[in-house]
Amino acid sequence: MLKLPSRVKIREVGPRDGFQIEKEFIPTEAKIEIINALADAGVSDIEATAFVSPKAVPQLRDAAEVITKIHRNGAVYSALVPNFKGAQNAIAAGVDEIVVVISASDAHNQANVRRTVDESVADLDDIFSLAAEKSIPVICSAATAFGCPYQGDVPESDVMKLVDAYTSRSAAAVILADTTGMATPTRTADLVKRVKDRYPDLEIILHLHNNRGTAMSNLLVAMMAGATVFDTALGGMGGCPYVPQAAGNLPTEDVVFMLEDMGVGTGIDLESIIRASLRLEKIVGKTLPGQVMKSGPRDPKRAAELCGIIP
Ligand code: COA
Ligand code: ZN
Repeated sequence: MLKLPSRVKIREVGPRDGFQIEKEFIPTEAKIEIINALADAGVSDIEATAFVSPKAVPQLRDAAEVITKIHRNGAVYSALVPNFKGAQNAIAAGVDEIVVVISASDAHNQANVRRTVDESVADLDDIFSLAAEKSIPVICSAATAFGCPYQGDVPESDVMKLVDAYTSRSAAAVILADTTGMATPTRTADLVKRVKDRYPDLEIILHLHNNRGTAMSNLLVAMMAGATVFDTALGGMGGCPYVPQAAGNLPTEDVVFMLEDMGVGTGIDLESIIRASLRLEKIVGKTLPGQVMKSGPRDPKRAAELCGIIP
């Protein structure tokens, strides 16, 4: 028998990681509709947008409006920030948490936020002071933790240096992000164990892109190595604009289907999340990578009703 937790936390990142890479601007009302549908399906933590330069990511230029207009019905709403200005804007707009992102690789950090890793780390003290003043938790993401699309392998020492920079400033949690889908199960388990050994009380979040088809396997081994928080995206949308051949995150509904069937609670209603991903597909006007939104739940009658499967 597998050693599994009885419950995990899903952080939905589709509204940020997914919408950021869409070519056509998704209307603000549609973004809000999807975020509200996610919360209604039982998603407890939602990365709703990013406070980034509208020149760099025009899709998310409506970040403040999104945060102001979504229903605030008990879920925790965060936003990604690339620098101090982003943190200021996110907190002013009323987010519950901020997610600071720095890449472990200099090459990707330069492409993504036009700073060296050291320059981005130098911004952290101001970001943490501001957040502490306003009692806003800071989640810290180590992007390209398993590989970089420009540099290739990223030395584990570089990843740990960034994790150290985060934990020494009392990060609420650290995201190990496979920005470019280069992780495999052994690499995933090794890094989770390494970070867990060094920081036994730290909340580790896995953010797994599926560029090479390994993301779900990586989630399973990470969970077996003790990780209990995962970033996923509705329909499997997503991708960093600064990753060539970017691919989506793990589809939220696929993860909910698999975990709930294995007896691992997510708190998310499978049918509601499938309905939300089908609605999202209509909004973005293209087929999404999610599989469970196409095949439906186990019950053939419900699969037929929800997904139009002919048994
Ligand atoms: N939000 C909005 N505007 C911002 C900003 C932020 N967080 N940070 C900087 N700006 C504005 C500045 O005010 C300035 O505006 P101006 O031209 O009107 O004076 C302009 O952007 C340039 O500022 P600068 O500090 O020189 O930024 P930059 O051009 O070097 O860009 C980032 C740096 C980080 C702002 C930009 O690269 C970015 O937003 N990257 C995000 C990438 C991303 O979201 N990737 C996917 C997620 S991993
Ligand atoms: Zn991502």
